[in-house]
Amino acid sequence: MIAPSILSADFANLAAETRAVAGADWLHVDVMDAHFVPNLTLGLPIVQSLLKATDIPLDCHLMIEDPGRWAPPYAEAGAHNVTFHAEATDDPVAVARDIRAAGAKAGLSVKPGTPIEPYLEILRDFDTLLVMSVEPGFGGQSFIPEVLAKAKAVRRLVDSGELRLLVEIDGGINADTIEAAAAAGVDCFVAGSAVYGTADPAATVAALRARAAAAAAATAR
Ligand code: DX5
Ligand code: ZN
Repeated sequence: MIAPSILSADFANLAAETRAVAGADWLHVDVMDAHFVPNLTLGLPIVQSLLKATDIPLDCHLMIEDPGRWAPPYAEAGAHNVTFHAEATDDPVAVARDIRAAGAKAGLSVKPGTPIEPYLEILRDFDTLLVMSVEPGFGGQSFIPEVLAKAKAVRRLVDSGELRLLVEIDGGINADTIEAAAAAGVDCFVAGSAVYGTADPAATVAALRARAAAAAAATAR
């Protein structure tokens, strides 16, 4: 699955930018609060407008403090996935339950330096694990390959039936890096600059998906 990130889109033309990635599996929406990360993007009103502008399921990535308070409204609004950061709360399971109760899938995200082991037990309360492959906050950064060990570890637990969730990766994904991520067992690839920085974003989505599928098929796990 490919999830173009509208962080790299034209914020004054978001409805058109959703149409530019027709065929994408999810539309990745980066919500930043200038506290959890040193950048400010968009919030609930724009997500509500996006929901009216597109049929592509919205994958909301909340890089915010206090997700227990702010995450459930994104689910109530109709987002498909609501993902928040493990580093932002002491009670991720309670936040996940509130998101699911409000009708969305719940996602947990971890920064590049955050180990996954302390969270393996609670991943059964989540639908998605979002492995950050750059420091959250900005698009256009370089992929950090060391994080693939986390994707591999969780993918192993999914393959053995111990966990049921999608493994998603976010940051620095492009034609050069997507194959290694696919080989590590990633299911869903977020790509911002690599999609919106091209002349035909929809064609780039299809090309990235084909590359990932070929790499996954070539990898014997
Ligand atoms: C970064 C965001 C990413 C960002 C990725 O904090 O979470 O979703 O848009 O951008 P690229 O694909 O350009 O690295
Ligand atoms: Zn993101």
